[in-house]
This record gives sequence, C-alpha cells and structure tokens, in this order.
Amino acid sequence: MAQSNASESKILAAYRARTPRAAKLYEQALELLPSGIVHDSRRTWPYGIYGDRGAGSRKWDVDGNEYIDYYGGHGALLLGHQHPAVLEAVRAQAGKGMHLAAANELEIEWARRIKDMVPSAECVRFTSSGTEATMLAIRLARATTGRPRIVRFQTHFHGWHDQVSFGVTEHLDGSASAGVLPEVAANAALLAPNDVAAVERVLAGGKDVAALIVEPIGSSSGMIPTPPSVLKALRELTQRYGALLIFDEVVTGFRVHPGGAQALLGVTPDLTTMAKVVAGGMPGGVVGGRRDILEWIDFDASAAAKRERINHQGTHNAHPLSAAAGIATLDIIRSSDACARASSVASALRRRMNEVLDEEGIPWAIYGEHSFFHLHSNPAGEDLRPMTFDPSTLTPDSLKGKDERMLAKLRLAMLVHGVDLKGFRGGIVSAAHTQADVDATIAAWRQSLRDLKAEERLPRISVAKSAAMAE
Ligand SMILES: Cc1ncc(COP(=O)(O)O)c(C=O)c1O
Repeated sequence: MAQSNASESKILAAYRARTPRAAKLYEQALELLPSGIVHDSRRTWPYGIYGDRGAGSRKWDVDGNEYIDYYGGHGALLLGHQHPAVLEAVRAQAGKGMHLAAANELEIEWARRIKDMVPSAECVRFTSSGTEATMLAIRLARATTGRPRIVRFQTHFHGWHDQVSFGVTEHLDGSASAGVLPEVAANAALLAPNDVAAVERVLAGGKDVAALIVEPIGSSSGMIPTPPSVLKALRELTQRYGALLIFDEVVTGFRVHPGGAQALLGVTPDLTTMAKVVAGGMPGGVVGGRRDILEWIDFDASAAAKRERINHQGTHNAHPLSAAAGIATLDIIRSSDACARASSVASALRRRMNEVLDEEGIPWAIYGEHSFFHLHSNPAGEDLRPMTFDPSTLTPDSLKGKDERMLAKLRLAMLVHGVDLKGFRGGIVSAAHTQADVDATIAAWRQSLRDLKAEERLPRISVAKSAAMAE
C-alpha cells in the first residue's frame, strides 16, 4: 500500500513507536513467509501487530500494548478469549491425548449438540475448516443431484478452494483466478448478490444446477445485506427446480442465534456449512444437513443404493481438542443469552460510532446487524448522514467500494488508540464485550478520526443537507 505522505504521518510514527518488536518480527517473517503473513486478510500496512495473549474482550501484543479486540479470532470467539469453561475442556482433553486415531465419545456429543441446535442438521460430518466444509457440501450436492453447476453470488465468501475462490474480490465476471482451471470456473454461475430473477433464469435454463450456496445474511457477514425475503425466494426456487440450497453459516452459525441464521429467519436449507464458533476457537468445520444427502458418504447406505459413495477423509476431522472446545462453547451458547448480548453491544457500538461521525461532520456510516459492524467510507462521495444511513439504498458495488489508503491509516490510528478492528472495514463483537469496552472504543474512534483529519482531506457532511434534516 503505497502512501504518498507516509513519511510525514504522525499516525504511522506513533504506530512504529509502539510496535518495535513487531517491526523486527515482520522483517524476519518476510524472509520466511510470502508477504510475511499466513492469511491474506491479515495484510496490514506497514506491518501487523504480533499477538501475545488474550482474555475476554481484550488482547495484548508482543510489544505489551493492550487492545479491545474486534477481530474475534476471525469470528470464532463468540465467548471472547480464554473463556474458563472452554479452556478447562481443552486442558482436560490435552492431558488425555492429542490424537488417538480412534473414534471418540466427544464426536458424538459434539454432533448431538449441533443436531439439537441447527434446524437443517439431521446428521453431520466433521471437517477441519470452513473451506473444507464448503468443498464437501458442493461435492455432496453434485453427487446427490447428478448435476454439475453451482450458483453463487458475487462477493460471497466460502473459503479458498478452487470452486469458490474466484468472484469474491476479483474475477467478478466468473472467470478463473490464477491457479484455477477454466473448466472449474465454467461450472459456476456467478450472479449479482440477491438477484432472484437471475437465479431463476439459471435454475430454469439448463436444469443442470446442483446447488446454490449463499452467506445467509449477505456477503462478509452482511456488508452487502441479503434481505430475508430473498432467502425465502431462494428456498422456493431451489425446491422448484430440483437444486439444493446450501447455507454457508461458517460465520453466522451459533452467533446470530444459537441455531444460526436459519433458525433466526425460519428458512431451512438442505445443507449447512459451519466452522469458527462451532469449534470454540480451535480448528474445525462441519457439514450438516439432510440425512439422505449425507448418506452419500455412508458405506452401507451407498452399497444398499447400489451407487458409488463419495470419499471423505481428513486427519484432523473432529479433532479431540476441537471437539472439547466446541462442546463447551455450544453448551454455554444454548444455555445463555451469549448471542443476544453480543448483538446488543454491537448495536450500541454502531449507534454511538455513527453519533461520533455525525458530530465530526464525516459522511461515512457504520451499519450492520447482529454482532457485526461495517464501515461504509463513502468513496463515491454520496450525500449521506450517518444516523439515517440505510445500506439497502446502495448498490453492492458502492457498499464494497473503499479508499484503501485512507482506511489503512484509520486502522493504524485505531491500533494506536488500543482497538483492533477486523481488517479496516469493521469488526465482530463477542459476548465478553462490555459497556466499558464500548465507551473506550468510542473515545478511540473519535480520536482516530481527528488524527486522520489532521493529515488527510476527509469529506464533510453537506451543510445544506444537515439543515434540511434538522427542519
Ligand atoms: C462465510 C465463510 N465461509 C467459509 C469460510 C472459510 O472458513 P475457513 O477459514 O475455516 O476455511 C469463511 C472464513 O472466513 C467464511 O467467512
């Protein structure tokens, strides 16, 4: 990220002064790791913080700085860092064995809880990640329907495997990205988000669609929101044309509601992919769904149906440590108001961050639902008011638009003031965040915006519009 005035930036200087050890580690990392990182989303200008430990809503870096954490383990930590019950469950299992290469009672207990909580999960198969879960769900859909094509929405993220890795931030025309075979891309129909008419045209067209896969509340956890009415229409259309509906609840599962978005919105898919919260901060993923579909992995059911079963291995499927963390986490979620608490703190945060934008006269907006908040930094310079911003009035393109240079600086300023956002477009709130965290975040937000104003030309809310609104 080239910065034209980087050398004069006080924000950058303050960040460097607070993070000398991170700077040194990053230099070493550059020798060993492409771009010095292990996950594309963690690319941070000029380098990211190096984590040391976490507790509740907070985390500390190797330079001794404390942060209010809105990265939340990429969404895995609904209960915050080091929840005592989760920690105890993992410790107890680690003392007994890491990997016994045998069936384990924990996998049954874990599966039972998922089945009890998630409406579509008649039975489940464990994987090691969300990426593996969507890969398996797509294979199951193709085997079950005998059809080749997958329908996806542009910008919806389903992991990094070949079937889904293009059309998220680039290759929105559906062409193959580097390393992906054009034949693979040709079997995906990539449609504009929420375009129900286009979905119907594709489903009705060749009758060759195995499944439609969607993030149920919209891409990037609702950055481009999907209205519930669209989900209902997708359910009806997939049923009508013999395609399967896959909800990717890798982020929303056990977070927007104990039963995921499907329980909250009353739309039941054929298959659901889960990861993150389900494994309580440990690696793990799940495909849950109709028994007749999952039975394509079942030896006896496939033999009885005289069909070739589909293979599925995985050294770490239902790893005992992940199962232990997952069970402890799901037990807390189903017996408490953890999801609702995280959502209510996020709602207060969104409102108060917008108040600050309004007071500072900046025509940006914080929006989102549940435990998420997203920043719309208004790169097109629309005449908007933070407090009344409605994302449904904007196109997907303008919601995803961003001024990377400005936002990279804002992210750094927030780190300097003790807040770690999830990248530079928002964050995820946990059930461990408190009103005190909100107060401290608001102070950091106001100061960061002022720091940014001091060295960047930020747009101003139009006075004419303000006066009109006040009347
Ligand atoms: C909606 C969604 N699906 C799938 C994935 C992939 O999960 P994983 O990172 O566990 O492979 C992610 C990861 O962020 C995600 O947000």
